[in-house]
Amino acid sequence: MIVAGNWKMFVGPEPSALAARLASIEGVDVVVAPAYTGICPCVGAGLTTYAQNVHWEPEGAYTGEVSPAMLLEAGAAGAIVGHSERRQYFGESDTAVARRARAALGAGLGVIACVGETQEERDMGDTETVLRVQVEAIGDSCGPHDRLVLAYEPVWAIGTGRTATPELAQEAHAFIKSLLDRPVLYGGSVKPDNAAELMAQPDIDGALVGGASLEIDSFASICEAAARSRS
Ligand code: PGA
Repeated sequence: MIVAGNWKMFVGPEPSALAARLASIEGVDVVVAPAYTGICPCVGAGLTTYAQNVHWEPEGAYTGEVSPAMLLEAGAAGAIVGHSERRQYFGESDTAVARRARAALGAGLGVIACVGETQEERDMGDTETVLRVQVEAIGDSCGPHDRLVLAYEPVWAIGTGRTATPELAQEAHAFIKSLLDRPVLYGGSVKPDNAAELMAQPDIDGALVGGASLEIDSFASICEAAARSRS
């Protein structure tokens, strides 16, 4: 099981206090993804640290971007790519997401690549089509790479308090795995009180946690639920 905390553009918990609280939890790989400026402090505290994005070129005239080599230099172990907030607010295409993922994997980083449908797409009955396009872009570029993990994050469940039901999430995860055989994390309003039933689903291999990762105790209890689910 993998539990990753996506801190988004928030400061997040104090890294050494978080590391101390997580130290006793076994059976789950815990990742934190702070803003770029938080990477070094988290690495310094001994946390497995991912960036929230990564560029595909090693260096160049790309204002505002950070390369895989720079992340490695900072001690990061990987990067999230294709988060729906990147796709929605910053116009990231499937092609760009695939290039980011491929470059990061090629440099030796881990990757959590996010996919998921909007409410409108689900209402139109287009969920599988959307997931297929997003997953195939990543799969065509990276293949079933052993450092690649996918995250199913239905856009309508992110930051809304509306979690996908375990059955609905399970169905989407099984579909995603039929397209690309890699672990799939669930993301979208994962909280301490719904983590156990989500993590109990056979094709849910962990969680990508936003809001609830900003508080040490709620993040730790989600990690504990994930650890218990496969023990
Ligand atoms: P949320 O965010 O847990 O606050 O819904 C999840 C995410 O965006 O990764």
